[in-house]
Amino acid sequence: TRNIGILAMDIYFPSTFVSQQDLELYDGVSEGKYTKGLGQTNMSYCGDREDIVSMCMNALKQLMEKYNIDYNSIGRLEVGTETIIDKSKSIKTALMSLFQESGNFNVEGVDTYNACYGGTSAMFNSVQWMESSYWDGRNAIVITGDIAVYAKGNARPTGGCGVVAMLIGPNAPLVMECGLRGVHMENAYDFYKPDLKSEYPYVDGKLSIECYLRALDRCYSLYKRSFESKYVGCAPFSLESADYCVFHSPYNRLVQKSLGRMAYLDYILSGSPEERVKSCYRSFFAEFDGIGLTNESYGNPKLDTASLKASENEYKAKVLPSTTLAKELGNCYSGSVYASILSLLTNVQNLNGKRVLVFSYGSGLASTLFSFVGNYNNNNNNNNDSGKTTSSIVEKCNINERLQQRIKQTPEEFEKAMEMREESCKKQISQGTIYNPIDSIKFISKGSYYLDKIDDKLIRYYQQQ
Ligand code: ACO
Repeated sequence: TRNIGILAMDIYFPSTFVSQQDLELYDGVSEGKYTKGLGQTNMSYCGDREDIVSMCMNALKQLMEKYNIDYNSIGRLEVGTETIIDKSKSIKTALMSLFQESGNFNVEGVDTYNACYGGTSAMFNSVQWMESSYWDGRNAIVITGDIAVYAKGNARPTGGCGVVAMLIGPNAPLVMECGLRGVHMENAYDFYKPDLKSEYPYVDGKLSIECYLRALDRCYSLYKRSFESKYVGCAPFSLESADYCVFHSPYNRLVQKSLGRMAYLDYILSGSPEERVKSCYRSFFAEFDGIGLTNESYGNPKLDTASLKASENEYKAKVLPSTTLAKELGNCYSGSVYASILSLLTNVQNLNGKRVLVFSYGSGLASTLFSFVGNYNNNNNNNNDSGKTTSSIVEKCNINERLQQRIKQTPEEFEKAMEMREESCKKQISQGTIYNPIDSIKFISKGSYYLDKIDDKLIRYYQQQ
């Protein structure tokens, strides 16, 4: 096999953030609701100087520069996002401006969207291109992330912002496992964006959580089936088979509950009620034998408490190391699982031979459970510049230090930025007037792109700080 997977990665996030503790006070909710109840620490955001194009350009530029990647070595570039600023022109086409100087215009791929799932679809397209007869030997790049903002109200603290860039190719240190997947797609109205004049989604919070967990159930069962037919004669698939689990992270509490749900699934899928007596989870779940995976099992406080308790130690060992960025940046939507993979690399030194399960969920809904395996021994040339070990990724991304360097803003400043974005959104659809962003460029880091103006034909212009 070619061992196709993630060769290199990085993340771009804005320099401004607001603390969830400050937001609790400002919003007048009970102390601990956002920090303990949702499990979040801080939330990244930007004003009207940044849009999804400038953020994707920054993610791409950082990746190319840090890993010294030649633009001519790229044969495919895909963007996965749900931050739509044009109903026709893809963000990918805007990113081609960075390829201009190299003269390489022979780059396949465009944008993919479906809520938080676009990045995964872009990732699958890239890997599958490399496995196909159309592959010409060059590497692929996936850019994925969003500006996640909600209208005032209880969903607002679950916003966030960040864009991940990944170099995909053969002989990778983190290889996507062939033939192992559990897919669940369904028609649901849990979260959608029908109002093209606003960045805010329509969201049914309770339904979205139920859809997420139901999708997890289905994907887990199907992944288990594909695992057991690939590894015939091995122990049946269970949480034991995974060293780490990475989840789409709207907020950390749901990630904790998702691992709890997997423990519950292991119990339910371990056989008939008589056979479950042998399960290590028996003492936690015996009283839910009659409920199984029925609707009664979703949003069930007693079952939630039992599954959190049953998976407490496994959460610390298998999930916690992947949660840093999601707790600090908030929900990066399409980029969420990939930011979590980057957090995992940052916090776990040696992933060689380790299996990382990844659950990607996008409302509406599209979801997949798939996996990567750490693979450092296959390289003939470990010392090249493309970041072929995960430790060089960690060094180049320098996540913890970059999080420290951000600028903390007050909830009032955060609200002002949200109003700025609302105004710019309204103006962007009224042709005939020029829009000059009002936010200060002092928040744009050196070398980064920002939105300079939108002209009377709604063409966007960017500058570099
Ligand atoms: N201290 C500790 N815990 C608290 C406190 C407190 N002071 N106050 C509340 N909590 C707990 C609650 O008990 C609850 O815990 P539980 O989840 O175990 O029941 C949790 O904090 C959240 O409180 P709720 O009252 O349920 O929160 P609310 O209904 O106001 O909003 C929601 C939460 C629905 C997630 C909302 O933020 C939302 O709609 N977000 C957007 C949708 C979303 O992210 N969906 C997830 C999947 S889809 C996607 O990725 C977009």
